[in-house]
Amino acid sequence: MLNSVAPGRYAHVVGWGSAVPERVLTNAEIESFVETNDAWIRERTGICERRIASPDDDTVSLGTRAARRALACADILPNQVDLIITATSTPARFFPATANLIQDRLGATRAGAFDLLAACTGFIYGLGLAAAQIRTGAINTAVVIGTETLSRIVDWQDRNTCILFGDGAGAFVLTASEVPGGVLDVVLHSDGSGGDLLTCHTGMRSFWLEEEASRDAIHMSGREVFRFASRVMVTATEEVLERCGLEPEDVSLVVPHQANIRIIEAAARGLKLPMEQFAVNIERYGNTSTASIPLAFEEAMQAERVHSNDYVVLVGFGAGLTWGAAVIQWAARPTRAIQLRAILQESWYILARVRSLFLRFLRFIGALIFRKSDTER
Ligand code: UT7
Repeated sequence: MLNSVAPGRYAHVVGWGSAVPERVLTNAEIESFVETNDAWIRERTGICERRIASPDDDTVSLGTRAARRALACADILPNQVDLIITATSTPARFFPATANLIQDRLGATRAGAFDLLAACTGFIYGLGLAAAQIRTGAINTAVVIGTETLSRIVDWQDRNTCILFGDGAGAFVLTASEVPGGVLDVVLHSDGSGGDLLTCHTGMRSFWLEEEASRDAIHMSGREVFRFASRVMVTATEEVLERCGLEPEDVSLVVPHQANIRIIEAAARGLKLPMEQFAVNIERYGNTSTASIPLAFEEAMQAERVHSNDYVVLVGFGAGLTWGAAVIQWAARPTRAIQLRAILQESWYILARVRSLFLRFLRFIGALIFRKSDTER
C-alpha cells in the first residue's frame, strides 16, 4: 500500500492514548442473566471482564478522550492536525460522522475528518490511509481513532456473542518525518462473500413496508469466524513482513486484534513465535473491535516493551470479512517536559467547547433572522 511515496518522507507514530469506561462487567455478572459460566468463558475465550459504557458515554466521548491523550503524548496541539480518521462499527449516529464530532470537541479546526467502517480491522485500515497520506506529502499530521460502544448492539440474551464484546477507544497520532522508519507497510484485504458470518443490520425499513423495523444486534457464526481468523492472522503477518523484507523472527512485538486468546495462540503457533512476543490484554477488556489494537499497544508502551528500531506488527481481522496487517519500525522520540503544554492543551479544549457553542449560537440567531425576514416578505 505504501509503495508510491515521496522519497525521504516517513510516517511515524508519535502519540498513543486510550479511554475505557469505568464500569466493569465480570463473567460472574453475565452468568446471572444468560446461561453461561465463568470457567467456560475464560477457557474458550480468555476473557474475564469487559468495560461497559455509561449512558452518558458514546463513541464520540470515548474517542475524544483517547485522541486527547494521544495528542498530549505526542505533544501536539489540535490545530496542527490535518486529518482525523475514526474507525468505528458503532457510530453514535449515521451522520454526522463520529470523526466530525470528535474534530469539533478537539477544536482541530484545520483538520478534515471522516469515519471508516472495516469492522475490527478498521484501525489497521485507518493507519494505512493516514500513513499513505503522510508519506505522499498530502498531509503532515493525522489522528487515527478506534472507538466502540459494542454493548449497545449486543443481544444480551445471546450467549454466543454477549460474552465477547466490550466498549473502549484508542488513538494514534502520526506525523511526517525525515527519520527513516515509522509505518513501513500495510496490507488490507476484504472478502464480502463472508459478510453474513458476522453481521449487524442497520434496522432501516422500506417506505413500502408497514411493520416497524426492529433494532438489530450482532449475529455471528463463531466457529467459521474462528477458523478464518486463525488463518488470516498468520497470512496477513507473513505478507506484510515479506513486503518489508523481514521474517517473523525479526519482529519484537505483535499487537493482534483481541478477539479470542485461542486465535492469538493459533497465530503464534502459525508464525512460530512465542506468546511472550504478543501483546495481550483480552482478559480485562474482551473484544473492543477497532479499539483493541491501540488499547493493547498503549499497555505495551507503558510496560516498555517497544524500543528504538524494533519492528512491531499490528494485525487484525473482522466482519466484512476484512483483515490486514501493518509493520512499524519504531523510532525513539526524546521525551520533553510537557507540563506546560498539558495546561495549554486543557485550556485549548475549553476554548474549543466555547467556540463550538458560539458557532451554534450564531447559527441559531441566523436562523431566527431569516425566519423573521421570510415572514415579513
Ligand atoms: O472481532 C471478530 C469477532 N469474532 C470472533 O473473533 C469470534 C471467533 N469465534 C470464537 O471466538 C469462538 O468460536 C466462540 C468463543 C464464539 C465460541 O467458542 P467455540 O469453542 O467455537 O464454541 P462453539 O461455538 O463450538 O460451541 C461449543 C459449545 C456449544 O455447545 P454444544 O453444541 O457443544 O452442546 C455451545 O452451545 O459451547 C456452547 N456455548 C457456550 N457454553 C457456555 C457457546 N457459547 C457458550 C457460552 N457459555 N457463552
